[in-house]
Amino acid sequence: MKLARRALLAAALSLPAFHALAAPLVLGFSQVGAESEWRSANTASIKQAAKEAGITLKFADAQQKQENQVKALRSFIAQKVDVIAFSPVVESGWDTVLKEAKAAGIPVILTDRAVRVADPSLYVTFIGSDFVEEGRKAGRWALERAAKAPGGALNIVELQGTVGSAPALDRKRGFEEIIKANPKLQILRSQSGEFTRAKGKEVMEAFLKARDKKIDLLYAHNDDMAIGAIQAIEEAGLKPGQDIAIVSIDGVRGAFEAMKAGKLNVTIECNPLLGPQLMQLARDVVAKKPVDKRITVTESVFTADVAAQELPKRKY
Ligand code: AHR
Repeated sequence: MKLARRALLAAALSLPAFHALAAPLVLGFSQVGAESEWRSANTASIKQAAKEAGITLKFADAQQKQENQVKALRSFIAQKVDVIAFSPVVESGWDTVLKEAKAAGIPVILTDRAVRVADPSLYVTFIGSDFVEEGRKAGRWALERAAKAPGGALNIVELQGTVGSAPALDRKRGFEEIIKANPKLQILRSQSGEFTRAKGKEVMEAFLKARDKKIDLLYAHNDDMAIGAIQAIEEAGLKPGQDIAIVSIDGVRGAFEAMKAGKLNVTIECNPLLGPQLMQLARDVVAKKPVDKRITVTESVFTADVAAQELPKRKY
């Protein structure tokens, strides 16, 4: 008798009507900030996807500061959200707060950027781009460019992303790994432009003022810094895309516009539209379904010659 009642209850709980009445899943999401066009597209994708999936989103903007993110994660834990997701500003320094989430029984999903932790069980899964590969793609393009340059040599300047962030570390590593094949490619200067247009412009101005050697190529870890640098190059009386070739990463609309205008040579795609996949993962993780530890996004490379044709198709 008892068994029959239990079976009846189990059947009732699996009915769609019961799920419609059940409280919506609550996702606490801590975003890096609003430093770039990429980030704005990423935020919009997450907010829109949460709405469409009927997931209650508690969204916190960390304004590029790790301490704000730690505070946000602690507040999500105190609010007993069902699942936490975050895009970590920097790679290290997460062990303590992630242990707190684990002790509270709240699963954590990493989006966009990775963390360096002693115990990988502190997060369930990581969805995002392969930043090392993005750096390699930029490096391969630089090698091709050098092959066409007089004497096969290139003097390079590099605008790095946020210091200590996964994309800055990985994109630098991937690029260097490839260009070391040709010692005629030299990185003259390398500095952080914090992934912003304003800082990208400021650092490029300093690179140009140094004028020790002619700069042939700018490698910018994101499109926003490249767009800032384009302004600095023009203000210095030079032609971006011609006097100084530019390769950057993201593939945002602004980069396609710059390529169409002949001011940027190539952009390596980094897809920010992670919202729908994140919502599905949040549901699966809460339902304790098995998920892959690492989910990578597929991406392309776009050169200036296809910019006009691709621009109308861009979603971000
Ligand atoms: O983590 C992804 C990077 O962060 C994007 O390339 C950059 O534009 C953003 O700020």
